[in-house]
Amino acid sequence: MKEYRLIMTIFGASGDLAHRKLYPALYQLYNKGFLADHFAIIGTARRAWDDEFFRQVVKESLSQAKQANENIEDFLSHFYYQANDVKESRQYNQLKKLSLSLSEKYQTQGNQIFYISLSPKLFPVITIQLKNQGLLTDQGYNRLIIEKPFGYDEKTAEELQTQLTQSFDENQIYRIDHYLGKSIVNQILPIRMNNFLSQFLWDPANIDHIQITLDEEIGVEDRGAYYETSGVSRDMIQNHALQLLTLITMDLPANRSNEALRQKKIDRLKQLKHYADLEVLKKHVVRGQYIQSEDQSHVAYRQEKDVASDSTTETYMALKIAIEQDKWANTPIYLRSGKHLNNKQTDIKIIYKKQAENVPANYLQIELAPHAGIRLCLSQSDSTHRNEIKELNLCYHLPRELTKVIPGDYEKLLFDCMNGDLSNFAHYLEVKYAWQFIDSIHALWQEEKDPDLAFYPAQSNGPEAGDYLIEKDNRSWFNE
Ligand SMILES: NC(=O)c1ccc[n+]([C@@H]2O[C@H](COP(=O)([O-])OP(=O)(O)OC[C@H]3O[C@@H](n4cnc5c(N)ncnc54)[C@H](OP(=O)(O)O)[C@@H]3O)[C@@H](O)[C@H]2O)c1
Repeated sequence: MKEYRLIMTIFGASGDLAHRKLYPALYQLYNKGFLADHFAIIGTARRAWDDEFFRQVVKESLSQAKQANENIEDFLSHFYYQANDVKESRQYNQLKKLSLSLSEKYQTQGNQIFYISLSPKLFPVITIQLKNQGLLTDQGYNRLIIEKPFGYDEKTAEELQTQLTQSFDENQIYRIDHYLGKSIVNQILPIRMNNFLSQFLWDPANIDHIQITLDEEIGVEDRGAYYETSGVSRDMIQNHALQLLTLITMDLPANRSNEALRQKKIDRLKQLKHYADLEVLKKHVVRGQYIQSEDQSHVAYRQEKDVASDSTTETYMALKIAIEQDKWANTPIYLRSGKHLNNKQTDIKIIYKKQAENVPANYLQIELAPHAGIRLCLSQSDSTHRNEIKELNLCYHLPRELTKVIPGDYEKLLFDCMNGDLSNFAHYLEVKYAWQFIDSIHALWQEEKDPDLAFYPAQSNGPEAGDYLIEKDNRSWFNE
């Protein structure tokens, strides 16, 4: 077992994400022996905590995550807290002193990860100070992990990139998209690359179309202010959904290096076909918003806290996407995502061309939630005298005994960063081309005098227009 040596400084250590995701993930890495004697975690935020209080907070986060508290005191002893307003330049010097003394104490060889888990507008404030005040080390590595969102559109993403790269090179920047840490998502490329059958299963000549669904049961809850600036296009489609689309459809390079694979992802995102005008957009993209649920137990989006009463923010989208590359040109990808839908389904389905009109299409399902797994759905005879066609499901679900061994999404991504492996983090050019696609949609929406919103009751299947988008092509969403 390799033990890693590092100091991780977490900005936003008192925040929700650190509490729910980062501390439990670090504890898993500790329990598996990847973190042992030679690591320290520095937590920083404005509130005036001390080490002892911070350690209690971390401990509480582990019990909330229902993690067994073996060796807990030793684990917690590696946590240190430094109160710090990131806008106050004089406080970075104290952080530097603490970091240097811990580096000495734990012999971390100068390796540093800076995890920024606070508002994106503060990302550059921090990175510039890290460089200007000499917190970046010459001995080991300096890596930066940042949370989403990376910009609001292409322009702001570019501005952010310019600011971050004054302190960190692109190959030191780890942009978190937690979908890319999910074990089933990490299976997509190995399955595609290592199986003879995959050449057939992934050949667009055999595929009728692809469906990608990222549905959520919850509404915006208390994140109305953020969601008003985002909508589902920026919150889910620009990052998670387009990343899944990319992994499924990208070309595989002859050279299977991480760099070559990343380049193929960039190429695919660049090849997403933009909608030519508003008329084309209306045929290919549905935007919806939830209204009060039929049983009145859930309020309309416009009645949510911090949401404008005349908001046109989309809480649902369905899109028909084309790829501008000859071999994929005739294989549409239907993508949908929404809030307050009546089942939490997150999956990808590759639907193959039918063998005969009366025989159901075969399909391959990669399910992220609720039950991570892979299913190849074929047709067989029912083995009776009637000899009717019925489904033959070849399924793989994560074995229960492996769930303790397989890393959770944040654990996996922290581990990759400790290894300097960027393959599950989006490159800036991936972000850029994904924004170009989303920006082109918003630009056309802006031309509309009266936004064409398809309303749907909370806790329903979503708007009928989302079904019609695919049904008008004589296809339908596979909801099972
Ligand atoms: N929570 C999630 O599930 C989630 C999901 C996806 C992405 N994200 C992203 O993760 C990041 C953090 O989200 P979060 O939900 O954890 O936010 P949060 O709960 O609001 O936490 C924000 C943190 O930033 C600190 N902070 C704010 N202003 C500061 C300042 N001037 N100087 C120093 N510290 C400051 C806060 O602590 P003090 O008040 O003590 O300063 C707190 O620790 C955001 O980029 C968000 O978009 C979060």
